[in-house]
Amino acid sequence: RNMTVLDVANVLKKDVEHVFKTLEFADKNSDTVYTRDTVIHNPQIVREIVKISGCRFKLVPRPDEVVEEKENKDAVPAPPAPPEALRPRPPVVCVMGHVDHGKTTLLDALRNTSVVDQEFGGITQHIGAFEVRLRSGETVTFLDTPGHAAFSAMRARGAGATDVVVLVVAADDGVMEQTIESVRMAREADVPILVAINKIDKPGVDIQRTLRSLAQHGVVCEALGGDVQAVQVSALKKLHLDTLVEALTLQAQLMELKADPGGYVEGVVLEAQLDPRVGKQATVLVQRGTLRKGCILVAGNGWAKVRMLQSADGRPVLEAPPSSPVSVLGWRELPAAGDTVLEVDSEKRANEVMKWRHSQSMKEKQEEDSEAISEATHRAQ
Ligand code: GTP
Ligand code: MG
Repeated sequence: RNMTVLDVANVLKKDVEHVFKTLEFADKNSDTVYTRDTVIHNPQIVREIVKISGCRFKLVPRPDEVVEEKENKDAVPAPPAPPEALRPRPPVVCVMGHVDHGKTTLLDALRNTSVVDQEFGGITQHIGAFEVRLRSGETVTFLDTPGHAAFSAMRARGAGATDVVVLVVAADDGVMEQTIESVRMAREADVPILVAINKIDKPGVDIQRTLRSLAQHGVVCEALGGDVQAVQVSALKKLHLDTLVEALTLQAQLMELKADPGGYVEGVVLEAQLDPRVGKQATVLVQRGTLRKGCILVAGNGWAKVRMLQSADGRPVLEAPPSSPVSVLGWRELPAAGDTVLEVDSEKRANEVMKWRHSQSMKEKQEEDSEAISEATHRAQ
């Protein structure tokens, strides 16, 4: 089947005007007057259009320019740690719930509950996560990225960074659309839910009604004979927040959350940005090993020799054990949120990994492009 100018534009996902412009070069020796419906008979011209079209095509090197890496030089996670190396680790918690049910207020209140933050005057910076440390010494890590977005990103990567979802339900509103949506997401990711019934300070709230409608959506709390913990709180008045955090540490114990604090570091990038004051900064949630200054990390298309570690409240820290979020400085290239972080032995090794990943993505791009080209020419014939 022959392709019209419009067909070519559609196949290449380009504006038709772009194809007209490109045709001036691709078919410069003919005096055909092209309209949207002009059929292009010569497949060579389609090939030319594809070649000239768009930056993606221009960026791709010719086949002979791609250096073929024969041996796989990528960094890979270490094998599972032996059971005797595992130590309990704090839970990593994501707060979800319907609009205006009090997620932000709750996170803010929790942040201020932390004894650490009180000691350091609460000089908080936004690094996408923070830890609440209890007087008992136990810790809970909260992911502080806009609920749904963070959770979807984590889920998409299958990183399983979240151990527990705190489902915030305002007692005056009860179960709403995004409450149900959050339940569905937690279920899909196989992450247990802990319910925080919020706004209990409001007059005339009906907690039983909220519990019943949660049960109708499969979240059966202990009060109704189920196994889901529910805590009644007021984020605004800071009521029962310690109970909530204790419930979370209990949940962590039930789940027997453990990690090996030794060996190579593994983690996930929560946020990455170019900070005008400190330069390339990324927040890393450590999932295995202990991150220290001087560690060499690779993550996505980025790598770092760790120059400085900072906790969420801006204190420099010497080391970050499993489940702790830290701000990492020392990136030569920034990674992206969601990238897996792996420690490697040397800068040389990091460079090798970067080169390998670069050549792999080049190869992928090239394959995509040759597919687009062959599809376009095939249709033109
Ligand atoms: P989105 O980010 O828009 O989804 O909302 P959110 O879930 O973060 O809610 P947010 O914390 O912004 O709270 C919404 C409103 O509810 C604010 O006006 C809060 O002051 C109020 N609010 C939050 N928690 C409580 C509470 O425990 N009691 C009362 N009375 N009001 C609360
Ligand atoms: Mg909010």
